[in-house]
Amino acid sequence: SVPLLPLRSGSLIPQIGLGTWPLDDDQAASAVETAISLGYRHFDTAENYRNERGVGEGLRRSGLDRAEAFITTKFNKEWHSFDGVRRAVEAATQRLGTDYVDLLLIHWPNPAQDTYVDAFRGMRAVQEEGLAKAVGVSNFKPAHLQTLADAGLVPEVNQIQLDPYRPRRDVREANARLGTLTEAWSPLGKGSRLLEDPLLGTLAAKYGKTPAQVVLRWDIQSGIVTIPKSANPERMAQNLDIFDFELDDQEMTALDTLETDAPVTDSDVFGH
Ligand code: A2P
Repeated sequence: SVPLLPLRSGSLIPQIGLGTWPLDDDQAASAVETAISLGYRHFDTAENYRNERGVGEGLRRSGLDRAEAFITTKFNKEWHSFDGVRRAVEAATQRLGTDYVDLLLIHWPNPAQDTYVDAFRGMRAVQEEGLAKAVGVSNFKPAHLQTLADAGLVPEVNQIQLDPYRPRRDVREANARLGTLTEAWSPLGKGSRLLEDPLLGTLAAKYGKTPAQVVLRWDIQSGIVTIPKSANPERMAQNLDIFDFELDDQEMTALDTLETDAPVTDSDVFGH
C-alpha cells in the first residue's frame, strides 16, 4: 500500500495522491469516489481548478471518514496577505464541506506582488487554529524559498512540475536543504513524449509494468510525493499498483539522467 511520509508539523502525507486538474465538479466527484474505492486517500485540488466542491462531494459519496482522507488545496493570488489567507481557507473549506484541509499551499509565488511572505505568515496563523494541518507552497524556485527562509519561514511541502525529463534538481536541492518535502505535479510529463521514452519502454518490459508505472516508481524511490491525474479507473488503479517491483541503483541513475529541454511551466504567476 501507499507509503506515508512525515511532514514537519507531524502529520503524514500519502506518497501518491490523485491530481484533479482539469476535472470539473461532476468529474472530480466521480473520480474521487472511484479513487477511494481503489485505495487512494490523498487528493489534490485548488481554488483555481474550480472543483473543490466536487472533491468534497466525492469524499462524502464514498463514505470514507474525513480523518482517513488527505486533502490539499491551494489559493489564488488575490489572498496573498496575512488576513486574506484566513478568508481563502475559510472559503475553501466551505466549498469542500470540511472543517479543515490537510495541506494548504500558496499556488504560485507571484513575486511581482511580493506578498507571499505575508501570506505564509497568515498560513502559520490558520495552521495554529487547525484550519490547515500543514502548510506549504507550490511552484516556488530556490530564490522564493530563500526569501521565505530569510523571514524565518519554511514550507513543509513545495509542489512543482517534476518528471524524469524535468528533474528540477535545483529546486529539489533547495527543498532538501530546508527540510521541505518535494511534491511532483504532472509527474507523467504531460506535454512531452516522456511515456514513449525508450528507457521507460525497456524497464516497463523488464518488470511487466507500463512506462507510467516506472515513472511513478522512480518518484517513490526518489522520496518524492507524486500526484498523477487520471479520471480513468483502470489508469487510476494502475498508478497505485507500483509496490510489487523495485528499480535497482543503476536503473535509478539512468532515470536520473534523462533530463531533456522539455519546457518547464516557468512562469511564477500563471495557474496551471
Ligand atoms: P486520463 O485521465 O485519461 O487517464 P499528469 O498528472 O502527469 O499531468 O498526467 C495526466 C495525464 O496522463 C492525463 O491526460 C491522464 O489521462 C494521463 N494518464 C494518467 N495515468 C496514466 C497512465 N497510467 N498511463 C498513461 N496515461 C496516463
